[in-house]
Amino acid sequence: MGMFGRMVVGVLPIMPRFMVGWVAKRYVAGKTIDSAVSTMLEMGKKEGCCFTVDVLGEEISSIEEADFFLQEYIRVIDAIVEHQLDANISIKPTAFGLLIDPDIAYKNIQELLTKAAKHDIFVRFDMEDHRVTQTTIDMLLKMHELELNNVGIVLQARLFRTLDDIQTICDTLDVNADFRICKGIYLESSEIAHTEYHRINNGFSEALELMLKNGSYCGIATHDKPVIKDSLIQLRNMGMMPDKPDPRKNAGPNRKMKGPGYEFQMLLGVRGELRRRLLKDGHKVRVYIPFGEKWYEYSHRRLRENPDIAWHVTKALFMPWSNRR
Ligand code: FDA
Repeated sequence: MGMFGRMVVGVLPIMPRFMVGWVAKRYVAGKTIDSAVSTMLEMGKKEGCCFTVDVLGEEISSIEEADFFLQEYIRVIDAIVEHQLDANISIKPTAFGLLIDPDIAYKNIQELLTKAAKHDIFVRFDMEDHRVTQTTIDMLLKMHELELNNVGIVLQARLFRTLDDIQTICDTLDVNADFRICKGIYLESSEIAHTEYHRINNGFSEALELMLKNGSYCGIATHDKPVIKDSLIQLRNMGMMPDKPDPRKNAGPNRKMKGPGYEFQMLLGVRGELRRRLLKDGHKVRVYIPFGEKWYEYSHRRLRENPDIAWHVTKALFMPWSNRR
């Protein structure tokens, strides 16, 4: 499959844009805020899920571009408030200038968090590749120092450093520690990361265990059935379940618009049947809603970074009935 994935990536540059667009439609909620809002209103009404919104785009090449992301996210916050959506936002610090001018990135992100805090909206720092792991964590801790507590971070199960990072963040932020744990989309080198499926899954399980023991809020971001099964067992062992207040003595107060100490999170368009089953069982499930003009670049980049995703694209092309949200 790895070779097959790489073949698909090879033909990607000559794949007609409309074809990439047709596949991307399943994973991207359109180009505009209006299209993202329609997607959320429709899905929220039909399924009862909640959302986190991502403006497509990441590492920028000039600091001026950072302003576009700041203004667009401000418009997203206004739209969440106007439509009373059960939604928060996910941002990539490099899109705000972290790799070009960290001072400006801090200023931009502080402004965004302040605006979000006024409306009780939570902000998640997505985690990008290893070049910015530490600086993203530093930014999280700095924002909490400024009493902007409406922000949490993503950690990647594949990285060797993740357990240490969890402990540092929990020791520093205590009941305000709020994580999303995922496997990690960036294929990092074996010097710093697990590269095998079972080891990454073990890393996920250990990371979740440590987060739960520390009383943190946990967004469990995966579509992998064995990982979900293991997570459900861990939650049950902690006495955590849907529609029951978080029983952990060291957990913080119940958070507005959040689950009882945990929630599941999935990407738009991926494993809808699994998402609906978790919702039916009463779990809080948050859907990641990417939108924006950069859908084409996003689709290409994701494919280049992780050729295994090409398999899902190919399946959608040859089995179009499988291309449903
Ligand atoms: P795995 O890759 O083993 O997939 C399990 C199954 O899910 C597959 O067999 C397939 O059926 C299905 N599947 C998975 N991905 C699919 C796709 N794109 N299209 C179709 N089917 C797919 N990563 C990161 O580095 N930083 C981040 O900030 C985030 N943020 C984030 C938020 C949310 C809400 C989610 C769900 C994921 C992320 N990720 C991420 C991505 C994450 O690290 C990981 O790459 C993907 O979720 C795939 O890993 P799984 O745990 O789903 O397992």
